[in-house]
Amino acid sequence: MGSERKIVLGIESSCDETAVALVNSEREIVAQRIASQEEEHAPYGGVVPEIAARAHAERLAPMLEAVMDDAALTLNDVDAIAATAGPGLIGGVMVGLVSGKALAMAADKPLMAINHLEGHALSPRLSEPELEFPYLLLLVSGGHCQILAVEGVGQYRRLATTIDDALGEAFDKTAKILGLGFPGGPAVEKLAREGDPRAVPLPRPMKGSKEPHFSFAGLKSAVLRAAESGEYNPADIAASFQQAAVECLVDRLGLALRKSGPLPAMVVAGGVAANQTVRAALETLAAQHGMRFVAPPLALCTDNAAMIAWAGCERLPLGQSDPLDIKARPRWPLDPDAETVRGAGVKA
Ligand code: KG4
Ligand code: ZN
Repeated sequence: MGSERKIVLGIESSCDETAVALVNSEREIVAQRIASQEEEHAPYGGVVPEIAARAHAERLAPMLEAVMDDAALTLNDVDAIAATAGPGLIGGVMVGLVSGKALAMAADKPLMAINHLEGHALSPRLSEPELEFPYLLLLVSGGHCQILAVEGVGQYRRLATTIDDALGEAFDKTAKILGLGFPGGPAVEKLAREGDPRAVPLPRPMKGSKEPHFSFAGLKSAVLRAAESGEYNPADIAASFQQAAVECLVDRLGLALRKSGPLPAMVVAGGVAANQTVRAALETLAAQHGMRFVAPPLALCTDNAAMIAWAGCERLPLGQSDPLDIKARPRWPLDPDAETVRGAGVKA
């Protein structure tokens, strides 16, 4: 086995984290660095694409050097270069992908252009060696809110998506409404611990509807109205929002499971998977369906490069690599055959 061990260098730059990691086929994160741009974007209450692209461009090369130094390796020791090629903010994606191409060309190594969502979708297999295909995946981040049947590497069947906002976006907007700053998810979760989840009447959009899709725009508007009414304290609003969101997730996942048929495991990935209330509710739901529940450690839930390197490790034995002229893609659905959902035109 030792001589077959492969090692992949991963690069992630699709949103506001610049990240580099070395991961091997034995599921070891050999070295990694992550630089968050929270401070740069905080004054604007959201990620500013131009600022993000510049920050990635400034930080990536020194971080690549640092990761190789930490691992005491050179590019010659690496088996492939994996870089996020989309979906995401195109300026940032281009910085990472072009850097990956340059390294692949200079070191004469295969390039793998990774779909960021595939990184999230496969990340649970990095932390959980026992997790086999197929599994049900809830992918909940700032840009995405999907339910997928993950049937193999490169084989993703989308069962549901959001018709408007992603759940992480709704957390971020709730935080903004409550004056909690950016990024909002962790701040809303913290404040919610002090509140009463039944205090504020909020809608559960799509609950009970026939397709397992999501919608969070109405919930966000209801949070705004509750805050503006002055009738409720912020902790109760945060707790009630989180409760409504979790009930939507559970309802939609239950329906998706009826559509997919039985699957052995339920997996959650993406930034919102860091939320403890979300995790606890999904764990209960999985148990009710006799499914194993898998949630990667928090550091693998939010954007990182280990998941990109790992997606590369998963692809290596399949002999998949990409040409150096491959393009960065702002939109890149994991399941290209999935039907377009009314209202979902803005999401990948
Ligand atoms: O996966 P990710 O790091 O980036 C995207 O690809 O979008 O997800 C970031 C999103 C943000 O919207 C953030 O507010 C949310 O995940 N998030 C959380 C928590 N931690 C991060 N949402 C709820 N609770 C959390 N603890
Ligand atoms: Zn992400």
